[in-house]
Amino acid sequence: MALLGVNIDHVATVRQARRTIEPDPVWAAVLAEIGGADGITLHLREDRRHIQDRDLRVMKETVQVRMNLEMAAEQEITDIALDVKPAKVTLVPEKREEVTTEGGLDVIANRDRVKTCVDQLMAVGIEVSLFIDPDEAQIEASKQLGVHAIELHTGRYADAETPNDQANELHILRQAGEVTTSLGLQLHMGHGLTYRNVTPIAAIPSVEELNIGHSIVARAVMVGMENAVREMKKLITD
Ligand code: PXP
Repeated sequence: MALLGVNIDHVATVRQARRTIEPDPVWAAVLAEIGGADGITLHLREDRRHIQDRDLRVMKETVQVRMNLEMAAEQEITDIALDVKPAKVTLVPEKREEVTTEGGLDVIANRDRVKTCVDQLMAVGIEVSLFIDPDEAQIEASKQLGVHAIELHTGRYADAETPNDQANELHILRQAGEVTTSLGLQLHMGHGLTYRNVTPIAAIPSVEELNIGHSIVARAVMVGMENAVREMKKLITD
């Protein structure tokens, strides 16, 4: 049964729209925890477009469930992670012009940079996951870096426009999931998952964690964070 990591970045997006102090993503994280979140995920981007350094530090002191910091494999952010020490870091690609994380990390092309970052994080006991596309060569390259987990990008599944395309993307994720677990890596998935499309993904054998943000925060605006998390948790575990 998959654990639910709730990504609270978009609570900070609303706050940053006015550069004010509300809504506070730390409050949202606490309510998500009360609603049944197994972990809180947040992305400290280099451009600081939503989550701020203060959010990360206050959340570390406040939230009891595991904190998963998403970040680029860049030294400035790595130094912050080494200082704050979240339970887990997920390395993601970052482009300034993108609306959200568009594709998986190219672990093969960026091996040295990713390895430098992974080695530093693992040396202080932080678990590391790599956010990659469901591609066998990328999974194998990730394994070689000694990471604990990989998170498979579910964006193509989420964006599929026909039932046929969606079934194909699901098949690709299932197969990549098998490769992942056969290599002894923990299997996580996320991106673009919603109340409407999450059930087949949650049913994939061996998927240990789903990270879901936008859809939960969007629903939370209507029904409150606790309720939104509770509804998603029910879909994942039923
Ligand atoms: N997992 C990773 C690695 C991400 O970068 C994101 C987006 O920040 C998510 C999961 C959550 O995606 P969404 O907001 O589409 O649910």
